[in-house]
Amino acid sequence: MRNIMFTILGTLLFAGLLSFTTKAEGTTVPGQTSPQETSKFSVPDDVKAVLDKSCLPCHGKQGNIFAKARWNYKKSPKLKTHKLVGKLAKIVTKIEEEKMPPPKSVARNNDLELTAEGKKLLIDWAEGLAESLVGE
Ligand code: HEC
Repeated sequence: MRNIMFTILGTLLFAGLLSFTTKAEGTTVPGQTSPQETSKFSVPDDVKAVLDKSCLPCHGKQGNIFAKARWNYKKSPKLKTHKLVGKLAKIVTKIEEEKMPPPKSVARNNDLELTAEGKKLLIDWAEGLAESLVGE
C-alpha cells in the first residue's frame, strides 16, 4: 500500500516533467508560438519517437490520469532557460543510471523498453540542447 502511495505521489509530482516536449508540436503549428520561444527548444522527430514510446506514456498528456492532470501545455514553453537545462540534466542522469524508464514497468510492459540506440539518441539530444541553451 505504501508503495502504491509513493508511486501515485511520484507520478503527481513529476508528471509535468516532460511537458515541455509539447514544444515540438508547437513548432509544427505556424503562428502558435513566438519565434523567440521556438528558437530555444527543438525536438527532432527521431527523438520525439523515442520519448513517445518510452517516456510519454507516463510523463505525457496521453499518460495515466495523474499525468494528465499535471499536463500544462500553455505553461511549458515559458519555462525559464535554467529550469529547462535542469530538467534536461535530470533526464540524462535518470537514463544513464537506468532509473528511467523504470525497469519494473518495462518488465511489465515491453513497449516501454529503451534500446541502447534510443538511449544514446535521448542523451545526445538532451546534452546538446542543454549546451546550446547555456551558450545563449
Ligand atoms: C512507467 C512510467 C514511467 C516511464 C515509462 C518513465 N517514467 Fe520517468 N518517472 C516516473 C515516475 C513515477 C517518476 C517519479 C518517481 C521517481 O523519480 O522515481 C519519474 C521521474 C522521472 C524523473 C525525475 C524527475 C525529477 O525532477 O527528479 C526524470 C528525469 C524522468 N522520470 C525521466 C524519464 C525519461 C527520460 C523517461 C523515458 C526514457 C521516463 N522518465 C520514463 C514514471 C515513468
